[in-house]
Amino acid sequence: MMYSEKVMDHFMHPRNMGEIENASGTGTVGNAKCGDIMRIFLDIDDDQVIRDVKFKTFGCGAAVATSSMATELVKGKTIYEALEVTNKAVMEALDGLPQVKIHCSLLAEEAIHAALWDYALKKGITIEGLKPPVNDIGEHEVEEED
Ligand code: FES
Repeated sequence: MMYSEKVMDHFMHPRNMGEIENASGTGTVGNAKCGDIMRIFLDIDDDQVIRDVKFKTFGCGAAVATSSMATELVKGKTIYEALEVTNKAVMEALDGLPQVKIHCSLLAEEAIHAALWDYALKKGITIEGLKPPVNDIGEHEVEEED
C-alpha cells in the first residue's frame, strides 16, 4: 500500500490535534467495523465562522491524516462552506488515499457534520442541508449481498 507524501506528512505531524474547552459544537463518530473513533471540536463565532477546530482520533494512520487535513480545510470557513468539505475534497487535498482506506476519510466528514449538528442544536438554529449524525458510520456503507 502506498501513501502520498501529504498523507505521511499529516500522519507524522497532525495539525490541530487536541480539544477545545466549551466548544461551540462537538461531534463524535465511530466505525464499528474497524473500531476507530474520531471527535471534532468547533469554535464558531457570531458570524458563523469557524475560528478554531481541534480533533482527537483513536484510529488508523489514514484517519489521523484525513482528520488533520479536514480541520485545515474547515478552519476560517463559514459553517456552510464547511458543509461542502466532503471526504472527497479531503482526499484530493491529500493527493489521494489507497482504495481500502477511503472509508477512513468518511470519519472526518461525518465528525465535522456531527459537530455542526451539535452547534445548531445548542443555538436553536437549522443548518440547511445538514443531516442528523449517525454514531456508527459503518451504517452508511452499503453491504452488497446476493
Ligand atoms: Fe478504521 Fe481507518 S481503518 S478509520
